[in-house]
Amino acid sequence: MTSTDDDEAPRLRALRPRLPSPVQELVDGRFERRGVRLLLKRDDLIHPELIGNKWRKLAPNLAAADGRAVVTFGGAYSNHLRATAAAGRLLGIPTVGVVRGEELAGRPLNPSLARCTGDGMRLHFVDRAAYRRKSEPPTLDAILRAADAEEAYVVPEGGSNAAAVRGCQALGAELRDRADVVAVACGTGGTLAGLAAGLAPGQRALGIPVLKGGFLTADVRTLQQQAFGGPRGTWDLDDRFHFGGYARVPEELDAFATDFEHRHGLPVERMCQAAVRTRDPGRRRRLPPRDDSGGRDHRTSFPVMPGKLP
Ligand SMILES: Cc1ncc(COP(=O)(O)O)c(C=O)c1O
Repeated sequence: MTSTDDDEAPRLRALRPRLPSPVQELVDGRFERRGVRLLLKRDDLIHPELIGNKWRKLAPNLAAADGRAVVTFGGAYSNHLRATAAAGRLLGIPTVGVVRGEELAGRPLNPSLARCTGDGMRLHFVDRAAYRRKSEPPTLDAILRAADAEEAYVVPEGGSNAAAVRGCQALGAELRDRADVVAVACGTGGTLAGLAAGLAPGQRALGIPVLKGGFLTADVRTLQQQAFGGPRGTWDLDDRFHFGGYARVPEELDAFATDFEHRHGLPVERMCQAAVRTRDPGRRRRLPPRDDSGGRDHRTSFPVMPGKLP
């Protein structure tokens, strides 16, 4: 941290994040039968408004912004936009949200974007072609100029940059020696990149992409390069559980999530978390039953977010 980051740190601490977040064991016969103990890393309990990877990714960026306005990017239902807006309100930092879809500008705001503006975020809508090119410097400059945010601190879509990845390293560190495999849903891959870096040697991170496309391996490598200067930890991706792409919630996935909720009394967010849990960790690598495992249980941990941002 720089000295200016240090000025922001007490304000972040004043929000009293619950860190390290608790780990909760769930008893589930389907996992037990495969010799797997299921632990949930309750990152949803870190802060009522900045839940899960949102706190871990945003806190280092808010510190680096040092009171400057923060500009970031997302779709019309982006949890990241909502979390950034909430953080802005809590810390008294102005926020600007660049939203994909110029056509939305003239319409009533959906509940998610209404929450953003309610938290003081100024919204700027851009057409989809420009939005796709937002990481190219000339397009980014033009967007920031049009949004009147040229002086603002830029946080990329999904909040995944080097600072965020380093923030997610703490998630892995908190799980050192607690699990053999740690599974996490992946959108931009920033959480996985940091998580894997924080785990101990011998532990493995498993990413479940919620988007179709197979581009994430390269993205996670790039994020680790930017954050740490090279590859860190042991991780891989299982691309079979995106159910056709982001926000696709077919009946099978919804039924699984509903059943999980009834069994364990925990709300399951459908877009990311339900897909992670359908990936039974024993499925690819047949694990021996618990008693044959040399006294060591196979433990799997899932970082959790609840059903909806409050
Ligand atoms: C619940 C949940 N888990 C995991 C992720 C994946 O985050 P990342 O974009 O860092 O891959 C997201 C996306 O923000 C999410 O909402």
